[in-house]
Amino acid sequence: MTDAAKKQHDRQVLLDHFRNPRGKDALTESDVISASRNPMCGDEVEVGVLVDDSGTADIRFRGRGCSVCIASASIMVETLSGKKLEQVLEEHRHICAWLHGESDAMPEQPSVRALETVRELPARKRCLLLAWEALAESLSKTNYG
Ligand code: FES
Repeated sequence: MTDAAKKQHDRQVLLDHFRNPRGKDALTESDVISASRNPMCGDEVEVGVLVDDSGTADIRFRGRGCSVCIASASIMVETLSGKKLEQVLEEHRHICAWLHGESDAMPEQPSVRALETVRELPARKRCLLLAWEALAESLSKTNYG
């Protein structure tokens, strides 16, 4: 895939997640809920985690944000919700290191790869990371994080 085609593909994936966000607005049953706020714009995202008896994590979110913020939150839910908590913790750590630019190891999850274009834009860093930070706090509150 050429660079231009990759960017076009990434834009389409992000647009789909922004228009049809996965796991949005249904936090009522979550065990723990944490919020993260972007002080530059006032946008805020809350992320809830419910861990069932088998150790599977149900992850949802709600809040207000720009298209990048909501698409990133939706991609996070699609990628991590429904997995065992240990796997969520491991993948979250790996993906966040990549999003922060601390690692260049491209995540294998297809929709996460669509964040690559935005990851290269310093001005959108907060938008990109908001939901992932709220999830980190929720995971730490489950006493497993
Ligand atoms: Fe507010 Fe992106 S502009 S989170």
